Amino acid sequence: MASLLQGSCSSTRPAIHSLGVSSDGDTSRSISFSSQLNNLCFKSLEKRFHVKRLRMGTLVRAESISKQVEVDISLSPRVNSVKPSKTIAVTDLATALVQAGVPVIRLAAGEPDFDTPTVVAEAGINAIREGYTRYTPNAGTLELRTAICHKLKEENGLTYTPDQILVSNGAKQSVLQAVLAVCSPGDEVIIPGPFYVSYPEMARLADATPVILPTLISNNFRLDPEVLKSTISEKSRVLILCSPSNPTGSVYPKKLLEEIADIVAKHPRLLVIADEIYEHIIYAPAIHTSFASLPGMWERTLTVNGFSKTFAMTGWRLGYLAGPKHFVAACGKIQSQVTSGASSISQKAGVAALGLGYRGGEAVAKMVKAFEERRDFLVESFRELGGVKISEPQGAFYLFLDFSSYYGAEAEGYGIIKDSESLCKYLLDKAQVALVPGDAFGDDKCIRISYAASMSNLQAAMERIKGAIVHLKATVPA
Ligand SMILES: Cc1ncc(COP(=O)(O)O)c(C=O)c1O
Repeated sequence: MASLLQGSCSSTRPAIHSLGVSSDGDTSRSISFSSQLNNLCFKSLEKRFHVKRLRMGTLVRAESISKQVEVDISLSPRVNSVKPSKTIAVTDLATALVQAGVPVIRLAAGEPDFDTPTVVAEAGINAIREGYTRYTPNAGTLELRTAICHKLKEENGLTYTPDQILVSNGAKQSVLQAVLAVCSPGDEVIIPGPFYVSYPEMARLADATPVILPTLISNNFRLDPEVLKSTISEKSRVLILCSPSNPTGSVYPKKLLEEIADIVAKHPRLLVIADEIYEHIIYAPAIHTSFASLPGMWERTLTVNGFSKTFAMTGWRLGYLAGPKHFVAACGKIQSQVTSGASSISQKAGVAALGLGYRGGEAVAKMVKAFEERRDFLVESFRELGGVKISEPQGAFYLFLDFSSYYGAEAEGYGIIKDSESLCKYLLDKAQVALVPGDAFGDDKCIRISYAASMSNLQAAMERIKGAIVHLKATVPA
């Protein structure tokens, strides 16, 4: 597997030679790329740059096509403090394997397998045809922000005006900008774990400290208000809530949110980012409650939502933030210097998506029904498998399964399965099913399976997983 990947990357990777000496005499941060290696990544750079100063005292030198280029490859402490997304890494690895002809079933990505509803896609196509292809206002078109306000009022009981909405290139950007806008160095960002992989890294990007509050599978992975109460200090700046949750699928009932709100209300410094991107992918009897709708929470809550999941629009890159103008304007300031407004075409499609009707109308209801059937199938199948602890998800399209009873088992030819990563590697290799190790989400006992895949793929994956797990069963230590 590794060699496959290396094979696909090696032509674009620099060869590491003996280090050149940079102008400050520091050899440790310098690396030279041989231009004779037909190195795709750097070929154009070699042509373009003759002598370029990268950072103080560091030279990049590219004299001619046959000579060597010296580049300081040191990175900023900020980027060094951030971990790359494991979800994306596993998804990319699985995709590379499929492209190389390995019949991997990909259950790693958080991406609906459905097509964007036709009327929505057509709105995007029409936008291009009609020449709607220019920059939009930084905050998003008034048309889309007005539609978002209407949606928030009708579906969430939240009142906002268009100047309290910021449309971005996906909900991920919305969360990051919110964290960057309100956190100062040393502030703490409270994140219930298991968490969406990006939250702690976003806190680090803001020079803040992520504080993870573990939750229990026996408590449906929901935050214990007492734990929250004892964690909050004067350093606490943001609490990030995600319901329905990625990766656990747990949904916070209104009563629990009210208990959390009561605690939050006692701490004027504490803001809440409510990531509600999975709000419509929810299974009865669970009901979604917007945190900002609770008494006293509107003023301190930044509600994040987006089109990727509900409307199967991951590639359109469209999300938004709603909150008090003061905070939304601060996020907008960051966005204006980073990406500017989201794609004009996607925004037209977004208007059409919100026009599908209450909670996405029939088109979304159909997808949610399919997700629910898949959830039921998987929950039953894993219960039959045995040795797996399950908290039945009430929303989103993930199962977060505690497989730790298999840790310590020995897989012939693979060694000991000691953690979520070795288990996922084993399942990828032996069963050719791509799943994400739970340690990426802060819980090494578990693995995440995305059921945003066809039922036939899920059935095939289940057969393969069972086949691979049988080999472990016999060797599980008592
Ligand atoms: C909880 C959560 N928030 C935000 C996002 C990012 O969504 P978007 O595609 O809108 O950037 C994801 C995507 O997986 C997610 O799971």
